[in-house]
Amino acid sequence: MIEIKTPAEIEAMRRASRIVAEVLAELKPLVKPGITTAELDSFAERRVRELGAVPAFLGYRGYPATLCVSINEEIVHGIPSPRRVVRDGDVVSLDMGAVCDGFYGDAALTVAAGGITPQARKLMEVTSRSLELALSKVRAGVRLGDVSHAVQEYAEANGMSVVREFTGHGIGRHLHEEPSIPNFGRSGTGPLLKSGMTLAIEPMICLGRAEVVVKNDGWTAVSADGSLAAHYEHTVAVTEDGCEVLSRI
Ligand code: MF3
Ligand code: CO
Repeated sequence: MIEIKTPAEIEAMRRASRIVAEVLAELKPLVKPGITTAELDSFAERRVRELGAVPAFLGYRGYPATLCVSINEEIVHGIPSPRRVVRDGDVVSLDMGAVCDGFYGDAALTVAAGGITPQARKLMEVTSRSLELALSKVRAGVRLGDVSHAVQEYAEANGMSVVREFTGHGIGRHLHEEPSIPNFGRSGTGPLLKSGMTLAIEPMICLGRAEVVVKNDGWTAVSADGSLAAHYEHTVAVTEDGCEVLSRI
């Protein structure tokens, strides 16, 4: 069952999602060669709490941090560490969730540390645009497959591949709710979107092949071929004529 949220519930999600957006915006300029991923995480946790929310990932299924920091061939769920130093040329994905009054917001973006290659820049652009394209499809009355298909078509038309093992998701009183939102699929298939549904849409795209291996820390998902990956995510509320991007400031 895909839950329909009340305006008051969406308001709590708006607050949580805006705090996520604000903290991600503050993190962006800190992603420079020399900073450790643990420093990024401590900053994120402090700011989320100062802004009146609670970190959503910390303790979720045993995840040990506020932030996921996934660098280069790491696709998602990179665990921050004081030993992991950001280097010049790194492609750094930051993913964070927050909770306000029991409701979740979730967003991600990818940042270039120092000078990155033109290919890496293109990967970031294609992934970011694939999310915008997906958002442009969302409105009451369309099928979820229309949204998924838009991401896949755009990524593949640019010679890149979409990760299949991880998906976006419904979000609300829980971080992960129905429906699962794959980044591939057929138009005209899947559940019908209705006003008041709240979704986290999150394309994960690789420059090479999209097969995933999870490292032995049990979390970090890397591309099996070592190719670069990027990740962007927004939390949105479906409306009659489109969607409200709750995690945009
Ligand atoms: N945005 C990711 C997701 O929706 C982040 C989850 S990280 C976890 O799956 F630590 F909370 F698992
Ligand atoms: Co998510």
